[in-house]
Amino acid sequence: MLKRLTLTAALALVLATGAHAAGGSGEVTDYDFSFEGPFGTFDQMQLQRGLQVYTEVCSSCHGMKFVAFRTLGDPGGPQLPEDQVRAYAELYEVWDPTLFDGEGDFRPATPADKFPEGLISNAPDLSLMAKARAGFSGPYGTGISQFVNGMGGPEYIASLLSGYTGETKEEAGVFLYENKAYSGGYLSMSQPLYGDDVFYEDGTEATIEQQAQDVAAFLMWTAEPKMMARKQSGLGGVIFLGVLAALLYITNKRIWAPVKSAAKKGAIPAE
Ligand code: HEC
Repeated sequence: MLKRLTLTAALALVLATGAHAAGGSGEVTDYDFSFEGPFGTFDQMQLQRGLQVYTEVCSSCHGMKFVAFRTLGDPGGPQLPEDQVRAYAELYEVWDPTLFDGEGDFRPATPADKFPEGLISNAPDLSLMAKARAGFSGPYGTGISQFVNGMGGPEYIASLLSGYTGETKEEAGVFLYENKAYSGGYLSMSQPLYGDDVFYEDGTEATIEQQAQDVAAFLMWTAEPKMMARKQSGLGGVIFLGVLAALLYITNKRIWAPVKSAAKKGAIPAE
Protein backbone atom coordinates (compact mmCIF):
# COMPACT_ATOMS: atom_id res chain seq x y z
CA MET A 1 0.00 0.00 0.00
CA LEU A 2 2.70 2.41 1.04
CA LYS A 3 4.72 1.47 -2.03
CA ARG A 4 1.78 2.20 -4.28
CA LEU A 5 1.26 5.59 -2.65
CA THR A 6 4.89 6.51 -3.17
CA LEU A 7 4.67 5.47 -6.81
CA THR A 8 1.54 7.56 -7.36
CA ALA A 9 3.19 10.53 -5.71
CA ALA A 10 6.30 10.10 -7.88
CA LEU A 11 4.18 9.95 -11.04
CA ALA A 12 2.23 13.04 -10.05
CA LEU A 13 5.51 14.86 -9.47
CA VAL A 14 6.82 13.79 -12.89
CA LEU A 15 3.65 14.94 -14.66
CA ALA A 16 3.63 18.21 -12.76
CA THR A 17 7.23 19.00 -13.66
CA GLY A 18 6.53 17.94 -17.25
CA ALA A 19 3.84 20.54 -17.79
CA HIS A 20 6.29 23.37 -17.48
CA ALA A 21 9.56 21.57 -17.85
CA ALA A 22 12.85 23.35 -17.83
CA GLY A 23 15.20 22.97 -20.79
CA GLY A 24 18.68 23.15 -19.40
CA SER A 25 18.05 26.00 -17.03
CA GLY A 26 15.72 27.86 -19.42
CA GLU A 27 11.95 28.14 -19.14
CA VAL A 28 10.09 26.26 -21.85
CA THR A 29 6.31 26.38 -22.24
CA ASP A 30 4.57 23.17 -23.29
CA TYR A 31 2.56 24.54 -26.23
CA ASP A 32 -0.06 22.27 -27.85
CA PHE A 33 1.01 21.68 -31.42
CA SER A 34 -1.30 20.03 -33.95
CA PHE A 35 1.35 17.46 -34.86
CA GLU A 36 1.68 16.00 -31.37
CA GLY A 37 0.48 12.52 -30.42
CA PRO A 38 0.09 9.38 -32.54
CA PHE A 39 -2.68 10.93 -34.69
CA GLY A 40 -1.30 14.46 -34.87
CA THR A 41 -0.80 16.09 -38.28
CA PHE A 42 0.83 19.30 -39.45
CA ASP A 43 -1.62 22.16 -39.93
CA GLN A 44 -1.12 23.27 -43.53
CA MET A 45 -2.22 26.86 -42.86
CA GLN A 46 0.10 27.10 -39.86
CA LEU A 47 3.03 25.82 -41.95
CA GLN A 48 2.28 28.47 -44.58
CA ARG A 49 2.20 31.17 -41.91
CA GLY A 50 5.45 29.82 -40.45
CA LEU A 51 7.09 29.91 -43.87
CA GLN A 52 5.99 33.54 -44.12
CA VAL A 53 7.58 34.39 -40.76
CA TYR A 54 10.79 32.60 -41.73
CA THR A 55 10.88 34.43 -45.08
CA GLU A 56 10.09 37.91 -43.82
CA VAL A 57 11.96 37.86 -40.52
CA CYS A 58 14.39 34.99 -39.91
CA SER A 59 15.85 34.55 -43.40
CA SER A 60 17.64 37.89 -43.16
CA CYS A 61 20.12 36.13 -40.85
CA HIS A 62 19.42 32.36 -40.85
CA GLY A 63 19.77 29.92 -43.76
CA MET A 64 18.12 26.54 -44.35
CA LYS A 65 20.63 24.86 -46.60
CA PHE A 66 19.18 21.33 -46.23
CA VAL A 67 15.67 22.24 -47.40
CA ALA A 68 14.82 22.13 -51.12
CA PHE A 69 12.25 24.67 -52.40
CA ARG A 70 10.52 21.80 -54.24
CA THR A 71 9.43 20.24 -50.91
CA LEU A 72 7.24 23.31 -50.15
CA GLY A 73 4.76 21.74 -52.60
CA ASP A 74 4.80 18.27 -51.05
CA PRO A 75 1.61 16.87 -49.50
CA GLY A 76 1.72 17.03 -45.70
CA GLY A 77 3.81 20.23 -45.78
CA PRO A 78 2.85 23.85 -46.58
CA GLN A 79 1.73 22.32 -49.91
CA LEU A 80 2.03 25.45 -52.02
CA PRO A 81 0.73 25.12 -55.60
CA GLU A 82 3.45 24.45 -58.19
CA ASP A 83 3.45 27.97 -59.67
CA GLN A 84 3.78 29.48 -56.19
CA VAL A 85 6.72 27.19 -55.36
CA ARG A 86 8.45 28.40 -58.53
CA ALA A 87 7.66 32.05 -57.81
CA TYR A 88 8.82 31.65 -54.19
CA ALA A 89 12.14 30.04 -55.22
CA GLU A 90 12.79 32.94 -57.58
CA LEU A 91 12.85 35.33 -54.62
CA TYR A 92 16.26 33.83 -53.74
CA GLU A 93 19.57 34.00 -55.58
CA VAL A 94 21.83 30.96 -55.61
CA TRP A 95 25.44 30.63 -56.69
CA ASP A 96 25.79 28.53 -59.85
CA PRO A 97 29.40 27.50 -60.58
CA THR A 98 28.56 26.45 -64.17
CA LEU A 99 27.57 29.97 -65.25
CA PHE A 100 29.81 32.68 -66.73
CA ASP A 101 32.16 30.25 -68.56
CA GLY A 102 32.77 28.17 -65.44
CA GLU A 103 33.63 31.12 -63.25
CA GLY A 104 30.25 30.98 -61.59
CA ASP A 105 27.55 33.58 -61.07
CA PHE A 106 24.35 34.16 -59.14
CA ARG A 107 21.00 33.24 -60.69
CA PRO A 108 17.40 33.13 -59.39
CA ALA A 109 16.72 29.84 -57.59
CA THR A 110 14.48 27.13 -59.08
CA PRO A 111 12.39 24.53 -57.18
CA ALA A 112 15.31 22.06 -57.54
CA ASP A 113 17.62 24.32 -55.51
CA LYS A 114 17.92 24.46 -51.75
CA PHE A 115 17.46 27.52 -49.53
CA PRO A 116 20.71 29.49 -49.30
CA GLU A 117 23.02 29.48 -46.32
CA GLY A 118 22.59 32.12 -43.65
CA LEU A 119 23.75 35.67 -44.25
CA ILE A 120 25.23 36.07 -40.79
CA SER A 121 27.98 33.60 -40.06
CA ASN A 122 27.16 33.01 -36.39
CA ALA A 123 23.41 32.55 -36.96
CA PRO A 124 22.98 28.73 -36.99
CA ASP A 125 21.27 26.99 -39.91
CA LEU A 126 17.59 26.41 -39.09
CA SER A 127 16.86 23.35 -41.30
CA LEU A 128 17.22 20.84 -38.46
CA MET A 129 17.05 23.20 -35.48
CA ALA A 130 13.74 21.77 -34.17
CA LYS A 131 15.45 18.41 -33.72
CA ALA A 132 18.76 19.82 -32.53
CA ARG A 133 17.34 21.42 -29.40
CA ALA A 134 15.49 19.79 -26.53
CA GLY A 135 12.90 21.80 -24.66
CA PHE A 136 12.26 19.28 -21.93
CA SER A 137 14.58 17.42 -19.65
CA GLY A 138 14.70 15.71 -16.29
CA PRO A 139 13.51 15.27 -13.71
CA TYR A 140 17.01 14.67 -12.44
CA GLY A 141 18.34 13.31 -15.72
CA THR A 142 15.80 10.49 -15.98
CA GLY A 143 14.36 11.62 -19.34
CA ILE A 144 10.82 10.84 -18.12
CA SER A 145 9.65 14.34 -19.02
CA GLN A 146 10.78 13.83 -22.64
CA PHE A 147 9.05 10.45 -22.69
CA VAL A 148 5.79 12.10 -21.61
CA ASN A 149 6.03 15.44 -23.45
CA GLY A 150 8.33 14.72 -26.41
CA MET A 151 11.75 16.26 -27.01
CA GLY A 152 10.28 19.74 -27.06
CA GLY A 153 12.33 21.20 -29.94
CA PRO A 154 9.44 23.28 -31.37
CA GLU A 155 8.33 24.24 -27.84
CA TYR A 156 11.87 25.48 -27.18
CA ILE A 157 11.95 27.56 -30.38
CA ALA A 158 8.53 29.11 -29.67
CA SER A 159 9.51 29.83 -26.06
CA LEU A 160 12.83 31.35 -27.14
CA LEU A 161 11.16 33.72 -29.59
CA SER A 162 8.68 34.90 -26.98
CA GLY A 163 11.08 34.76 -24.03
CA TYR A 164 12.95 38.09 -24.32
CA THR A 165 12.93 40.19 -21.18
CA GLY A 166 14.26 43.38 -22.77
CA GLU A 167 17.45 43.31 -20.66
CA THR A 168 20.75 43.60 -22.55
CA LYS A 169 24.39 43.53 -21.63
CA GLU A 170 27.70 43.92 -23.39
CA GLU A 171 30.43 41.34 -23.06
CA ALA A 172 33.79 41.67 -24.83
CA GLY A 173 32.24 44.06 -27.32
CA VAL A 174 29.30 41.77 -28.11
CA PHE A 175 25.72 42.76 -27.32
CA LEU A 176 23.80 40.05 -25.50
CA TYR A 177 20.06 39.86 -24.94
CA GLU A 178 18.42 38.25 -21.94
CA ASN A 179 16.02 35.42 -22.71
CA LYS A 180 14.09 33.26 -20.23
CA ALA A 181 14.17 30.16 -22.48
CA TYR A 182 17.88 30.29 -23.30
CA SER A 183 19.88 28.08 -20.97
CA GLY A 184 22.75 30.56 -20.68
CA GLY A 185 20.31 33.37 -19.90
CA TYR A 186 21.79 35.70 -22.54
CA LEU A 187 22.28 35.12 -26.28
CA SER A 188 23.55 37.21 -29.16
CA MET A 189 20.32 37.09 -31.21
CA SER A 190 18.35 40.27 -30.64
CA GLN A 191 14.59 39.93 -30.24
CA PRO A 192 13.33 39.11 -33.76
CA LEU A 193 9.55 39.24 -33.14
CA TYR A 194 7.55 42.09 -31.61
CA GLY A 195 4.04 41.29 -32.89
CA ASP A 196 2.60 42.30 -36.26
CA ASP A 197 5.98 41.62 -37.91
CA VAL A 198 4.08 39.99 -40.77
CA PHE A 199 0.56 40.37 -42.10
CA TYR A 200 -1.32 37.06 -42.24
CA GLU A 201 -3.58 36.71 -45.29
CA ASP A 202 -5.78 34.16 -43.49
CA GLY A 203 -6.82 36.72 -40.89
CA THR A 204 -4.86 35.18 -38.00
CA GLU A 205 -3.70 37.82 -35.56
CA ALA A 206 0.10 38.11 -35.72
CA THR A 207 0.91 38.28 -32.03
CA ILE A 208 4.44 37.42 -30.87
CA GLU A 209 3.31 34.04 -29.52
CA GLN A 210 1.28 33.20 -32.63
CA GLN A 211 4.16 34.00 -34.98
CA ALA A 212 6.59 32.16 -32.67
CA GLN A 213 4.45 29.00 -32.68
CA ASP A 214 3.85 29.19 -36.43
CA VAL A 215 7.54 29.44 -37.30
CA ALA A 216 8.34 26.72 -34.72
CA ALA A 217 5.78 24.40 -36.35
CA PHE A 218 7.26 25.22 -39.76
CA LEU A 219 10.76 24.41 -38.48
CA MET A 220 9.50 21.09 -37.09
CA TRP A 221 8.27 20.31 -40.59
CA THR A 222 11.62 21.23 -42.21
CA ALA A 223 13.39 19.01 -39.64
CA GLU A 224 11.03 16.09 -40.11
CA PRO A 225 9.00 16.51 -43.31
CA LYS A 226 7.97 12.84 -43.37
CA MET A 227 6.58 12.80 -39.82
CA MET A 228 3.01 12.24 -40.97
CA ALA A 229 3.98 9.39 -43.32
CA ARG A 230 5.94 7.81 -40.48
CA LYS A 231 2.99 8.01 -38.09
CA GLN A 232 0.63 6.60 -40.72
CA SER A 233 2.80 3.61 -41.46
CA GLY A 234 3.27 3.08 -37.72
CA LEU A 235 -0.50 3.04 -37.24
CA GLY A 236 -0.84 0.68 -40.23
CA GLY A 237 1.68 -1.63 -38.58
CA VAL A 238 -0.23 -1.65 -35.30
CA ILE A 239 -3.53 -2.44 -37.04
CA PHE A 240 -1.87 -5.18 -39.11
CA LEU A 241 -0.38 -6.79 -36.01
CA GLY A 242 -3.77 -6.62 -34.26
CA VAL A 243 -5.54 -8.39 -37.13
CA LEU A 244 -2.73 -10.95 -37.34
CA ALA A 245 -2.99 -11.66 -33.62
CA ALA A 246 -6.78 -12.20 -33.88
CA LEU A 247 -6.38 -14.57 -36.85
CA LEU A 248 -3.68 -16.55 -35.07
CA TYR A 249 -5.89 -16.90 -32.00
CA ILE A 250 -8.81 -18.22 -34.08
CA THR A 251 -6.53 -20.54 -36.08
CA ASN A 252 -5.04 -21.92 -32.88
CA LYS A 253 -8.52 -22.69 -31.51
CA ARG A 254 -9.53 -24.43 -34.74
CA ILE A 255 -6.42 -26.57 -34.90
CA TRP A 256 -6.78 -27.86 -31.34
CA ALA A 257 -10.60 -28.17 -31.32
CA PRO A 258 -10.71 -31.88 -32.48
CA VAL A 259 -8.03 -32.85 -29.97
CA LYS A 260 -9.88 -31.11 -27.16
CA SER A 261 -13.24 -32.72 -27.94
CA ALA A 262 -11.57 -36.13 -28.23
CA ALA A 263 -10.02 -35.58 -24.83
CA LYS A 264 -13.43 -34.67 -23.40
CA LYS A 265 -14.91 -37.95 -24.70
CA GLY A 266 -12.05 -39.84 -23.04
CA ALA A 267 -10.58 -41.10 -26.32
CA ILE A 268 -7.20 -39.73 -25.27
CA PRO A 269 -6.23 -39.20 -21.67
CA ALA A 270 -6.78 -35.60 -20.59
CA GLU A 271 -4.25 -34.06 -18.26
C1 HEC B 1 19.46 39.80 -36.78
C2 HEC B 1 19.79 38.45 -37.13
C3 HEC B 1 18.80 37.36 -36.67
C4 HEC B 1 17.46 37.26 -36.93
C5 HEC B 1 16.57 38.22 -37.71
C6 HEC B 1 17.02 36.02 -36.34
N1 HEC B 1 18.08 35.40 -35.73
FE1 HEC B 1 18.03 33.63 -34.72
N2 HEC B 1 20.00 33.82 -34.23
C7 HEC B 1 20.83 34.84 -34.64
C8 HEC B 1 22.13 34.65 -34.04
C9 HEC B 1 23.33 35.56 -34.24
C10 HEC B 1 22.05 33.48 -33.26
C11 HEC B 1 23.16 32.86 -32.38
C12 HEC B 1 22.89 33.32 -30.97
C13 HEC B 1 23.89 32.82 -29.96
O1 HEC B 1 24.31 31.66 -30.08
O2 HEC B 1 24.21 33.59 -29.04
C14 HEC B 1 20.70 32.97 -33.42
C15 HEC B 1 20.22 31.82 -32.81
C16 HEC B 1 18.98 31.27 -33.04
C17 HEC B 1 18.53 29.99 -32.52
C18 HEC B 1 19.35 29.03 -31.66
C19 HEC B 1 19.31 29.38 -30.21
C20 HEC B 1 20.07 28.32 -29.44
O3 HEC B 1 19.46 27.58 -28.67
O4 HEC B 1 21.29 28.23 -29.61
C21 HEC B 1 17.26 29.81 -32.97
C22 HEC B 1 16.36 28.63 -32.68
C23 HEC B 1 16.91 30.96 -33.77
N3 HEC B 1 17.98 31.83 -33.79
C24 HEC B 1 15.70 31.11 -34.41
C25 HEC B 1 15.34 32.25 -35.10
C26 HEC B 1 14.03 32.43 -35.72
C27 HEC B 1 12.94 31.37 -35.75
C28 HEC B 1 14.03 33.66 -36.27
C29 HEC B 1 12.88 34.35 -36.97
C30 HEC B 1 11.69 34.57 -36.19
C31 HEC B 1 15.33 34.28 -35.99
N4 HEC B 1 16.10 33.38 -35.29
C32 HEC B 1 15.72 35.54 -36.40
C33 HEC B 1 20.47 35.90 -35.45
C34 HEC B 1 19.19 36.19 -35.91
